[in-house]
Amino acid sequence: MTPSICFLLCWLALPLQGLEIFNPEEVEYIRSNATATVGGSVTLGCGTVAPTIYIWGFTKPGTDNNVAVAHNYGLGPKVQAQFGSLGRIQLQENSSALVIEELQKDAAGMYTCQALFDTDEGARITFYFTRLEVEDN
Ligand SMILES: *[C@@H]1O[C@H](CO)[C@@H](O)[C@H](O)[C@H]1NC(C)=O
Ligand SMILES: *[C@@H]1O[C@H](CO)[C@@H](O)[C@H](O)[C@H]1NC(C)=O
Repeated sequence: MTPSICFLLCWLALPLQGLEIFNPEEVEYIRSNATATVGGSVTLGCGTVAPTIYIWGFTKPGTDNNVAVAHNYGLGPKVQAQFGSLGRIQLQENSSALVIEELQKDAAGMYTCQALFDTDEGARITFYFTRLEVEDN
């Protein structure tokens, strides 16, 4: 199991113990690239409907440390306060997209939305990977 899968599953291990749970090989991976400019804004997608549970993570280029930026685990959508160095971060309520305004140069890197959708056919897990480039304006 790769560390990034553990990142989600380890968080979810507790609440999901009672659910019919999936096989990690059924995780779907969706990759995309995005480019934005310093001072501008960008919206990073996490599916077209709001996931039941999601965690947004960020990995700085040159590191392999995926840190949680935002999640809706527990008390509703929550942005981790310490990420002001990326810009002004908000979550789009209807889709769980991560919106970063007043982008900083440091916002460049890999964003991961690890999302669990509760569907009629059971839990579906999708990992959205978006590589963000931030250009000087
Ligand atoms: C994103 O960019 C990387 C590096 O330039 C490239 O290898 C990859 O194919 C791109 N992915 C998509 C989905 O465009
Ligand atoms: C979600 O809300 C934003 C504005 O907050 C809107 O621009 C967007 O179209 C909405 N998306 C969906 C899927 O309804």
